[in-house]
Amino acid sequence: MRIDKFLANLWLITRKDAKKIFKLWNIFINWEAIFNESQKINFWDEISFFDEIFNYKENYFLILNKPVDFVSSRVSEWWYPSVYDVIFDYPYQNLIEIVWRLDVDTTGLLLFTNNWKIIHKLINPKKNIFKKYLVKISKNLSEKDIEKLETWVIIDWNYRTKPAKVNILWEKKIELLIQEWKFHQIKKMLLAVENEVLELHRTQIWEIKIWNLEIWKYRELSQEEINYLENL
Ligand code: URA
Repeated sequence: MRIDKFLANLWLITRKDAKKIFKLWNIFINWEAIFNESQKINFWDEISFFDEIFNYKENYFLILNKPVDFVSSRVSEWWYPSVYDVIFDYPYQNLIEIVWRLDVDTTGLLLFTNNWKIIHKLINPKKNIFKKYLVKISKNLSEKDIEKLETWVIIDWNYRTKPAKVNILWEKKIELLIQEWKFHQIKKMLLAVENEVLELHRTQIWEIKIWNLEIWKYRELSQEEINYLENL
């Protein structure tokens, strides 16, 4: 990739503005100042600008433990700030997209990447990629409710959910694994069995786990985790 294209993508600016930056300031590739904006960069190159160092990678993968009251979109909505404000100091935040939004009041694992091949694989309904949630509910589930959730319930007028898996953890607290992604899906599924979600937290997407990542914190995926996604 050309260095001006990389910088334009990185800072969400035009190639023309990236060229202007070249005229005004020094950009270094592997600590050597470069003056040609059409210079090609490679994956192993280290690009630096003032004190900031950028690594040009083909793909970026990030997970965030999303706090409550942030909206899963690039811009703020209503009075809720965007989750991109939480990852504001991640240098490649402009390059990555959210895979499976979480509601404003939901916390937990939010995955971002710029790898469209993997995004398409993940959201392919035939793949049945499971997502795991911790759910605090308004009353305990009956055997019948569990059976319904694990077979199907109707949401959105006529959509029959794919079989979910329910694990009872303790009083009014369950773990729910679902295969598909529909808007407000878990809230609607619990409503379908006359229950209500009081708190919702995503802990896992496929083999990607939030583990001990604290709320508000983010990290890049390890190579092992990326391999899981690549081998989907
Ligand atoms: N289901 C919901 O109802 N909300 C979420 O944020 C995710 C799944």
